[in-house]
Amino acid sequence: MIFKNLIQLNSPLVKHYLTLIRDKRTSFSDFRKYVNKLAVLLASEVSKELDLRRKKIQTPLANFDGAEAYEQVVLVPVLRAGLGLVDGFTELFPNAKVGHIGVYRDEKTLKPVKYYFKLPRISVEKNVIVFILDPMLATGGSIIYSVSELRKHGVKKIVVVSIVSSPEGIKAVRRHYKNLKIYTCALDKKLNNKGYIVPGLGDAGDRMFGT
Ligand code: PRP
Ligand code: URA
Repeated sequence: MIFKNLIQLNSPLVKHYLTLIRDKRTSFSDFRKYVNKLAVLLASEVSKELDLRRKKIQTPLANFDGAEAYEQVVLVPVLRAGLGLVDGFTELFPNAKVGHIGVYRDEKTLKPVKYYFKLPRISVEKNVIVFILDPMLATGGSIIYSVSELRKHGVKKIVVVSIVSSPEGIKAVRRHYKNLKIYTCALDKKLNNKGYIVPGLGDAGDRMFGT
């Protein structure tokens, strides 16, 4: 299945760590460790979204016409499972500010229920890129809610980062945000009747935090 502006990572290392986190025998401490590795790989991939400007410097031997990434990077993990991606991202984006969106799915309706929202002060800064971090994009409800809140706060450049996505969820997000870029490590087969991604990896938050 091909979706516009859905970028799927397919390097051997991504496949390797993805298989480890899908495996139900993986302990929660290893799960966290491998999610962190995937986060670094995702962060490297999404760095394609950063704008560069010219930077003239001098090497010890000559002048050099270099480049610098100048946008303010803001990471917005969706609680709880999105927290697992933050360390990997700050490794590559050490100056990133971090906001938080607290939202969980109601088990029956599968609709997002919000409980927390805190963004760094970014509205005055002109060049801002926000990466929404959430390992699972299932029905898409949590992402649609998160993007709409960020838009209400004036954020223009938003990129979604997920580890496992479902076709149903991508279609739902597309209906709301036609051109939103979504990076994912896997586009799985489907959702089951409880809204879980199949084959997926189960409940990411529970597996990450041992709950
Ligand atoms: C999970 C996951 C996503 C959401 C995806 O969170 O981390 O945020 O489900 O589902 P959706 O695309 O159908 O909205 P959950 O609601 O289980 O909360 P938790 O991370 O606190 O466990
Ligand atoms: N949230 C998860 O953590 N896993 C799923 O499969 C769907 C939603």
